[in-house]
Amino acid sequence: MKEKIKGIENEISVFDINNVESLEKFRIHFLGSKNCIKDLFAELKSVPNEEKKEIGQLMNALRTSAQEKFDSSKIRLENSASDDTKIDLSRPADQIEIGSRHPLSLVRSEIIEIFNRIGFTVSEGPEIEDDWHNFSALNFPPEHPARDMQDTFFIEKGETEMALRTHTSSVQVRVMENEKPPIRTISPGRVYRNEAISARAHCFFHQVEGLYIDKDVSFADLKQTLLYFAQEMFGEKAQIRLRPSYFPFTEPSAEVDVSCTICNSKGCNVCKYTGWLEILGCGMVDPNVLEASNIDSKAFSGFAFGMGVERIAQLKYRVNDLRLYSENDVRFLKQFSSGM
Ligand code: DAH
Repeated sequence: MKEKIKGIENEISVFDINNVESLEKFRIHFLGSKNCIKDLFAELKSVPNEEKKEIGQLMNALRTSAQEKFDSSKIRLENSASDDTKIDLSRPADQIEIGSRHPLSLVRSEIIEIFNRIGFTVSEGPEIEDDWHNFSALNFPPEHPARDMQDTFFIEKGETEMALRTHTSSVQVRVMENEKPPIRTISPGRVYRNEAISARAHCFFHQVEGLYIDKDVSFADLKQTLLYFAQEMFGEKAQIRLRPSYFPFTEPSAEVDVSCTICNSKGCNVCKYTGWLEILGCGMVDPNVLEASNIDSKAFSGFAFGMGVERIAQLKYRVNDLRLYSENDVRFLKQFSSGM
């Protein structure tokens, strides 16, 4: 019997408790409901009476030493665990990374600010648009080939034809339907076209539409407004030129170039040695468009323009690959300071 007690005593002392699992194993083996010391107590019956007292004491000591080892190991493990998570208050704090605004947001804000200064408000419309606002009210007849100018993502064909808007010109219709002239507003937003993605084309991009409707608005007002915009955006030396063009919703229509800010119009590969860069489309709002939105085309006239935000950003930041704007690569995005 004494041999057995010695054996267990030895087991207790060499048992290596170095983690929670081994602590639990120890507990089950020496202190659990079916532990090995209990088994010894069961054998006490067969011990001669004169030895019972001594053996009993030895077994009690065995139980105590198992309990003590368990308690001290538990405390030791708990302390070492909390050592790992102790906070060193003297350590310098992790640096807080300050994000930067997306280049397209920066350019859009700048465009909005420039037009705010001359009294243009901001209005917005839905990206999922019906045929009326995206095409019909803008003077695109049902089978008009001009609809092919824009490859549309249709969502529902049939009676309620819905599509992702192909331009923000749809918002000018919504504004004219809801407000009375004088109207002076710009509409920034995302537009969608069914195009293969490449450096020069994308299936979604951003535009800012402009609309000014009042009595006696003239082409000269349009030209001066756009010159003001170009000089605010690209510097006071910037010049513009208008080339005749065609859009169903404006008559006459023009495309506007700004003098190349990269080579000062001397000619470079960005402006393809012409000294000019195309930045937007514009024109006098077609009377049909005014009438479609219940504005009296005899009493009121107006101009409209539409520009691509990526295009302006490309000229401002010399980013030539359109895909970079939507790839969310932090190395690209963090190069643009917000200036805020
Ligand atoms: N909506 C045209 C486009 O997406 C841009 C545009 C051209 C808008 C002429 C206008 C405009 O308001 O007058 O290409």
